[in-house]
Amino acid sequence: MYTHTLHQQAKELATSSTLDIAGTDLNFFTRLLSNTEQMHDLFMQLYGHRPDAAAQFARLLQTVVAAYAGRSAVLRQLDDEKLAKPEPWFTSHQLVGMSLYVDRFAGNLAGLQQRLHYFEELGVNLLHLMPIFQSPPNESDGGYAVSNFREVDPRFGSLQELQQLQQALHQQGMYLMLDIVLNHTSHHHAWAVKAKQGDAHYKNFYYFFPDRTLPDQYEVTMPDIFPESAPGSFTWVPEQQAWVMSVFHNYQWDLNYTNPAVLVAMLDTIFFYSNLGVDVLRIDAPAFIWKKLGTSSQNLPEAHTLLRLIKLCVQAATPGMALLGEAIVAPAEIMKYFGTDRYTARECDFAYNATHMALQWDALATGDTRVMLAAQYELLRKPYGTSWITYTRCHDDIGLGYDDDMIRAAGYDPFEHRRFLKDYFSGAYEGSPAVGALFGVNPKTNDARISGSLASLCGLEKAVASGDEGQMSKAIQKIVLMQAHSFFMGGLPMLFYGDELGAMNDYSYLQDPGKSYDNRWMHRPLLQWDALPYQDETAIAGRVFAATRQLIALRRRLPVLADRSNLEWMTPHNIHVAGYVRHTAAQRLYCVFNFSDKDAWLTWYAFREKGLQSATVHDHVSGKDLSVGTDREYLVLPPFGFMLLEGV
Ligand code: GLC
Repeated sequence: MYTHTLHQQAKELATSSTLDIAGTDLNFFTRLLSNTEQMHDLFMQLYGHRPDAAAQFARLLQTVVAAYAGRSAVLRQLDDEKLAKPEPWFTSHQLVGMSLYVDRFAGNLAGLQQRLHYFEELGVNLLHLMPIFQSPPNESDGGYAVSNFREVDPRFGSLQELQQLQQALHQQGMYLMLDIVLNHTSHHHAWAVKAKQGDAHYKNFYYFFPDRTLPDQYEVTMPDIFPESAPGSFTWVPEQQAWVMSVFHNYQWDLNYTNPAVLVAMLDTIFFYSNLGVDVLRIDAPAFIWKKLGTSSQNLPEAHTLLRLIKLCVQAATPGMALLGEAIVAPAEIMKYFGTDRYTARECDFAYNATHMALQWDALATGDTRVMLAAQYELLRKPYGTSWITYTRCHDDIGLGYDDDMIRAAGYDPFEHRRFLKDYFSGAYEGSPAVGALFGVNPKTNDARISGSLASLCGLEKAVASGDEGQMSKAIQKIVLMQAHSFFMGGLPMLFYGDELGAMNDYSYLQDPGKSYDNRWMHRPLLQWDALPYQDETAIAGRVFAATRQLIALRRRLPVLADRSNLEWMTPHNIHVAGYVRHTAAQRLYCVFNFSDKDAWLTWYAFREKGLQSATVHDHVSGKDLSVGTDREYLVLPPFGFMLLEGV
């Protein structure tokens, strides 16, 4: 609905910052006007009861206008180019990403810039730099405890070097992804330091409690995130003789979004990143940004209201930056981060397909794809125009947080099934080839997640230790299967650095007191390039690298793999095989994956049932043509093998 006063407010702001709203800045002004009413509406849902609501909303609008006014001509031009694409730019099959720690991958930012040729060789064109802003060395949580959102930590280099890298990336047609740690700051952040000194304004940036009364009540329903290393959700602050909310580690203080000044300050930080030229902003832990007594304080409706509001602001001022919500929560809850009802496809552009990632590990351990298939009903509801980050591993643990019903649908007992998976990947299950560890073990709930690198969880570490060439090949085949299955599903594949080289668990973290309490570091390797002959295809690193490069090349060659909500699951004729069809009006690509260590036989009817008419199919993986048999004949997939078949 049109509101004259809001129109005037937006117009005055835009004209006062010398924008030409009837000329060069008309597109911005149109976007701003189109969104202002909804921005106001969402803002008032959260803050309308406060006497300062109108003044705070005015500050929010000012922040949006200032962000656009401060955006460089180059980035504005890029915004226009991205918006002009017929489909959202970030759903393209041309994009392939990699997450990496700048220091552990290349020493520092300058070193990374010198290694850009590596990504070109591999085919990766989007880099997710793990957090590089200032963070206290021994209380860092891998950079997710930020003490200054706008200064690069000297360990990595300088802000100027980050800008140089960003420009180099854009010149090469590459994209940049960074994090915004929205939920909390380090207790060394200037806001927290002032709060410790008793500054009332900044104390309101956090949740302070004079005694345990409310913290105790909150903790009845708030789950522990790091039950072993940081039990509880509150930390005693001696300087204030008070408790502060700290859901993650005790050095990560939760920001208080019931205070609109926090939202405005963090929105301004978001725009700082947009104007650095970030193409995808990973919003860290958005599920946690709103807290309410008597709830888990995760996935609350107000968290979605905040994200929608942020999306509207970003869309107005810096629309070329896509938003990724890192919500690693139950499947039905993940879906909501794409927006619901009138906000469908208008919240986060991306979410991690964490459910599917974990289900791939489920299928690999059991050799049975039924649990994976049982979950797809939920995942296929992703709205058109949004996309997944598809992945097999990232810097975090693997959580088994999919629904019990999905496990039951496959005929397993959820408790026993999860116990098996935990035993299998932590190596406790006799005969398991995996070398990993349990993370976040909670004796109260029996929950645990899994740490370990892709290669070690696939059995490479054990195979190398035993020197068994057959086992090594099998492990490599599993690595490639896992990557392939996630690469072709639709969504932006995000490799985790080192996985393309078969990097195994790195136990050096145990020697570092800032890391030894957190076994996620075992799968965050410190790369020793001399020991990684990735161009030698007889070496392990080279074999995995070549196979990964082939997967990337395939994705980039086949437009049908772009995410157009064009995925249909094949009927499970064989429980070991997961198959999906990627389709456009002109093309159908049958992607079939054998998760078992034996040959898997798949009736040709499975393909015909999904529209295959031709007598011959071409396998894009092997480059070979195969004759299609009758319904009583079978396609044979080798152990952990996969094919991408297209009728010819
Ligand atoms: C996210 C990050 C994780 C971190 C947590 C707290 O889940 O991926 O590494 O520990 O947020 O910031």
